[in-house]
Amino acid sequence: MAAVDVPVALLGYGTVGAAVNRLLIENGDEIERATGHRIRVVRALVRDQARERSFPAGDDLLTTDFESICSDPSIALVAEVMGGVEPAADYVLQLLRAGKPVVSANKQLIARRGPEIFRVASEEGVQLRFEASVCAAIPLIKVLRESLVATNVHRVLGIVNGTTNFILTRMEAGVGYGEALAEAQQLGYAETDPTDDVSGADAAAKMAILATVAFGARVGLEDVLYEGIEQVRPEHVEAARELDMTVRLVGAATLADGGFDVRVQPAFVDRRHPLAAVEGAFNAVMLQGDAIREITLEGPGAGGVETASAVVADMVSVVGTAATGFLHNDAAWRTLPRLPPGDLRSRYYVRIEVDDRPGVLAHVAEQLAAQGVSIARLAQRQLPDGASLDLVTHEAPSGRVEAALATVAELAEVKGAPTLMRVISERGV
Ligand SMILES: NC(=O)c1ccc[n+]([C@@H]2O[C@H](COP(=O)([O-])OP(=O)(O)OC[C@H]3O[C@@H](n4cnc5c(N)ncnc54)[C@H](OP(=O)(O)O)[C@@H]3O)[C@@H](O)[C@H]2O)c1
Repeated sequence: MAAVDVPVALLGYGTVGAAVNRLLIENGDEIERATGHRIRVVRALVRDQARERSFPAGDDLLTTDFESICSDPSIALVAEVMGGVEPAADYVLQLLRAGKPVVSANKQLIARRGPEIFRVASEEGVQLRFEASVCAAIPLIKVLRESLVATNVHRVLGIVNGTTNFILTRMEAGVGYGEALAEAQQLGYAETDPTDDVSGADAAAKMAILATVAFGARVGLEDVLYEGIEQVRPEHVEAARELDMTVRLVGAATLADGGFDVRVQPAFVDRRHPLAAVEGAFNAVMLQGDAIREITLEGPGAGGVETASAVVADMVSVVGTAATGFLHNDAAWRTLPRLPPGDLRSRYYVRIEVDDRPGVLAHVAEQLAAQGVSIARLAQRQLPDGASLDLVTHEAPSGRVEAALATVAELAEVKGAPTLMRVISERGV
């Protein structure tokens, strides 16, 4: 059977865009054998046509004129690989309104403008796919949207930022935070400005997208509570080791009591838990649901070619399902409230630095007990100028633990603000 020629366009021809063109050319025969289609990039939008490209673009491929893509009826599908929220959002909306399916690798775009973009795609009856926007080559969106469509996924737990995972893994090996960050930058894991990674903002955008797809509800970046790893100190890493745990930046999306809770925070992860084994710049996401119990997907969460491979896979899916009307129907989404953040129940690790005086532990325990928080494990250690209490609580609502620690911080014998991190040890239901 003769292949059907599918002309496509790219918005952006940088690291990812050039790799998409290369993969489509180099793997053209395989894609054609699998789908019967020959996907060909015929135009790519850039800012500067004269710039040198990692994979040279063919003649007349590069353009600075978006209109020449949007209004060309021969272009069957467009991949947005330019990044940023504007003008990417405006372009994507125009393309969808022109009836062109869109594939995007842009997490900020989907996490910030998702509801509007999904609505327009649904109104126009065109496909919008965004696998590459979360964890690059790990096929999470497809698994959630397609393979697990008949499963009530009620929890997503993940390590979704490779830079912070690399830094925490190096800190475990005894390297300081600053040195580990510098190493991550040298190896190309961290951007020159790593703020979005280390502050948890990058992971928060990915968790908003995963929660949106997993729960079939609109979860925006503004619904995610997040903190980064800037406050993680060597003594926390050491305390985790002594408790047979490890410190990881964990994204957790939970569906409970008719609402959702999505957060990204450093956590103490039990050594036997699958997320504890995720090392270096790798990502891993666990999906927990009624019928599936627990599925863990792990792999490289970033990189130009990894991201490009997910973009190409989405393009192939669009082409392969064009006649079946595959669509994430916007009208079928449910409206879920965000749960009060203080209601989330978990075990917690608490570190309190105190004067080494008799009765201190009893005072601390009293404040915790007043909020109904009980201690499951305790380690007391001498410091040069006092002592530290490293304790793990039984399961309690985070709001109660925070309230107890606020009063603990006011005790005369307590020095500085206590550290609080969630403990992750439970497996699928
Ligand atoms: N690189 C990765 O490892 C990775 C991983 C996961 C997701 N992503 C996502 O993939 C997307 C692309 O990333 P990238 O690393 O390929 O970025 P990049 O190398 O900076 O490339 C961006 C491309 O878009 C073009 N562009 C940007 N703004 C434009 C505008 N206003 N008008 C026209 N063209 C514009 C640029 O044109 P010029 O070349 O002329 O400047 C360039 O070709 C982003 O959303 C990113 O978050 C990347």
